Amino acid sequence: MKSKINNFIRKKNQKKIICLTAYSKNIAKILDKHCDLVLVGDSLENVLYGMKNTHKLSLETIIKHAKSVRLGIKKSLLVVDMPKDTYKTPRQAKKNAKLILEKTGCDAIKIENTNKNLDIIKFLTKSKINVMGHVGYTPQFKKKFKVEGQNKKDQQKLLNQSKQIEKAGAFSIVLECVSKEASKKITKNLKIPTIGIGSSSFCDGQILVTDDIIGLSGFYPKFVKKYIDLGKIIENVIKQFKRDVKLMNFPKSKNSY
Ligand code: KIV
Repeated sequence: MKSKINNFIRKKNQKKIICLTAYSKNIAKILDKHCDLVLVGDSLENVLYGMKNTHKLSLETIIKHAKSVRLGIKKSLLVVDMPKDTYKTPRQAKKNAKLILEKTGCDAIKIENTNKNLDIIKFLTKSKINVMGHVGYTPQFKKKFKVEGQNKKDQQKLLNQSKQIEKAGAFSIVLECVSKEASKKITKNLKIPTIGIGSSSFCDGQILVTDDIIGLSGFYPKFVKKYIDLGKIIENVIKQFKRDVKLMNFPKSKNSY
């Protein structure tokens, strides 16, 4: 397990690191061929369950989806988000992280960072649990969306926070909606890879929500590139099926027993 994590860390300064989210086996199987890391993100609560935020996602739900994703992953690093309120104390975090690892067979967990939860990372990494950090805009803790690190003072704060997360033993860190200047400074000053979402090409790698880039989520902020409108393509298929059934073009004899 450690060698898989070390291989991931070694990608820094060698190649751009490719990461995407998956919530189910079939998508995971496609991503696995092309990604270095697949994240079962708590964005699941917005994207699949239609909730306004991620705050009510349960451990059971993310574990269920991560089990499905696991079936599609052969080579990528599999990381699972810890839902809000499942890592409020070091002991609670360890108990729940272990449950996620045991039930899903993932390689690591991700937690969103505040200035107050460094002790959680330290406790988990001391217990040999691989941890990915997450700074900048952290939807579990911030009420309003804001790009982080827009002035020198905030950039320094973010850099200090990221350095502490590295020191606490995290193997990588997500920078969400962090300014270009801050992303550049953090990436330059850390030994572990930075993975950006809305945080410029200075990061060591990039992550996006897969449903956003394939045009299924209906959520397309500035930092998303929508490569295809899969929603439209699926709708066309549904229309063809409907027409075929109505006109009795389907099922044909070859589709029948
Ligand atoms: O929940 C999520 O999908 C994330 C991102 C980094 C994309 O945390």
